[in-house]
Amino acid sequence: MLIDFSKFSSVRIGGVFEVAEISLENACEFEGVVIGGCNNILVSPTPPKFGILSDEFKFIELLGGEILRVGAKVKSSQIYNFAKKQNLANFEFLRSIPGTLGGLITMNAGLKGFEISNSLVSVTTSQGKFKRDELGFSYRKSEIPGVIFEAEFSVKFGFDTKLSDEISKARSNQPKGYSFGSCFKNPFKDSAGRLIESVGLKGHKIGGCKFSQMHANFLINFDNGSFEDAISLINLAKQRVFEEHGVSLECEVKIF
Ligand code: EPU
Repeated sequence: MLIDFSKFSSVRIGGVFEVAEISLENACEFEGVVIGGCNNILVSPTPPKFGILSDEFKFIELLGGEILRVGAKVKSSQIYNFAKKQNLANFEFLRSIPGTLGGLITMNAGLKGFEISNSLVSVTTSQGKFKRDELGFSYRKSEIPGVIFEAEFSVKFGFDTKLSDEISKARSNQPKGYSFGSCFKNPFKDSAGRLIESVGLKGHKIGGCKFSQMHANFLINFDNGSFEDAISLINLAKQRVFEEHGVSLECEVKIF
């Protein structure tokens, strides 16, 4: 199928490219990049081969009240709503994180001490079933072989509404608008937003993109920004922060 990334991606940048549909049957042969909700991806004018999961991977179920089984195409909002309805703990943080399960696991998405890998038991991919400890999880990082099909989580009852509201509030300094969420990972014991602000780039514009005036680690496409605009801003921030602080900012957004 053809996907227009200027409409599909959360940052609304990219051209129209062919994307292969990945099913249970053909997943083993797929070689390329699997896109989920396209919330953390910047697509260049010359991307690699992309694939997107078929609806076979859209399911969520409780197995015997102990295990939550979720397909890789399920959106974070659906997992959050399911957890709330079934009174499950540990998924409150998903209220504020957009993405599909496959993307969340690949990024080891998280917020304020919560990470998707915390209550994870296993992940099934096109290369087999792997236990959590075999998957190299660290801050916003994993090493997962093959195409992710589904995951199992251990179940703890007790959805925490107060925590859910607190987490949602922690995002009150984050801007609306087309973005990737955080553009850079936070360096150890520091914050990318603080560093970008300190080198004078908060609010800085290149073409149709800028670092938000509200939160400097949010690259916003405010006016038909291009790949070039976005990449120029990213490189400028990396360069300035390195020159002034000796810190190498690492992208959270994946550039293809
Ligand atoms: N700060 C600045 N200037 C700015 C922005 C932030 O000085 O322009 C300072 C703040 O004052 C604060 C510190 O930087 O002292 C941290 O900022 P904030 O609390 O906004 O959190 P963050 O570290 O920037 C992280 C996650 C977000 C998550 C928030 C809230 C990363 C890279 N980002 O942001 O996750 O929503 O905490 O819990 O870990 C994402 O990953 O896409 C994402 C949005």
